Amino acid sequence: MIFHVVTLFPEMLDSPLRESILGRAVKQGLIAVETHNLRDWAEGKHLSCDDAPYGGGDGMVLKPEPLARAVAALKRRTPAARVLLMSPQGVPFDQQHARRLSTEEGLIFLCGRYAGFDERVRATLVDEEFSIGDFVLTGGELPALVMIDAIARYLPGVLGSADSVTSDSFTDGLLEYPQYTRPPVFNDVAVPDVLLSGDHRRINAWRREQQLLRTLQRRPDLLEKADLSADDRRILEGLRGETDRLFTQRSNN
Ligand SMILES: C[S@@+](CC[C@H](N)C(=O)[O-])C[C@H]1O[C@@H](n2cnc3c(N)ncnc32)[C@H](O)[C@@H]1O
Repeated sequence: MIFHVVTLFPEMLDSPLRESILGRAVKQGLIAVETHNLRDWAEGKHLSCDDAPYGGGDGMVLKPEPLARAVAALKRRTPAARVLLMSPQGVPFDQQHARRLSTEEGLIFLCGRYAGFDERVRATLVDEEFSIGDFVLTGGELPALVMIDAIARYLPGVLGSADSVTSDSFTDGLLEYPQYTRPPVFNDVAVPDVLLSGDHRRINAWRREQQLLRTLQRRPDLLEKADLSADDRRILEGLRGETDRLFTQRSNN
């Protein structure tokens, strides 16, 4: 799969793409990431890519023409590539988007700067617009990196063990269960006995219950959409009862 990133600051992406899992995936040819300087498609004496907003106001706006030329050139290279706009106004990016986008042949990320993009970029050049959260960053490079990282984890061979994706938070709509490693006791907190039992049926049952409990406590909104079995629902019912009981007990004390 090829990721094209169009940016005014290509060097911002260098180090994260050289290190660790992504670095290895690039070296092994499992993914290709090409950064492209938007200025290469600018015209005029100053190769300017931005201009003042019509109607006045602070900040400069990215001009549509260099972006249009960039998209056209990269589509000639990777005709099936989808064009993704990085924007705080976009759809909130999540794990399901990461999984879906990992099946594409190529992706073109358009990274904004300053006051953002001329609206006609959004209207005429882009397939999807993504936000990585309800906050505003100085540019789209970090969002593009965040998305590339999450998408690449789904590609065959990128992670050492395929299991890491299947048990991750959000993959099955729930948060992951708590993880422990050595030592068996740390800061007076012991690893739950069940994890030392070697009984994988019990371990799996404990992990599922912990996933449900964690999600109930931290992200109950996820439970509405999660794909839950009849067993999960029964466990959840019990956990809800237990949580309510503890809450009433605390309020009475
Ligand atoms: C300072 S922001 C522009 C924000 C724009 N004026 C607005 O209010 O929607 C500059 C660029 O950073 C990127 N960016 C900032 N925050 C982002 C977020 N939460 N998710 C994705 N991209 C973001 C976008 O590419 C954006 O065009």
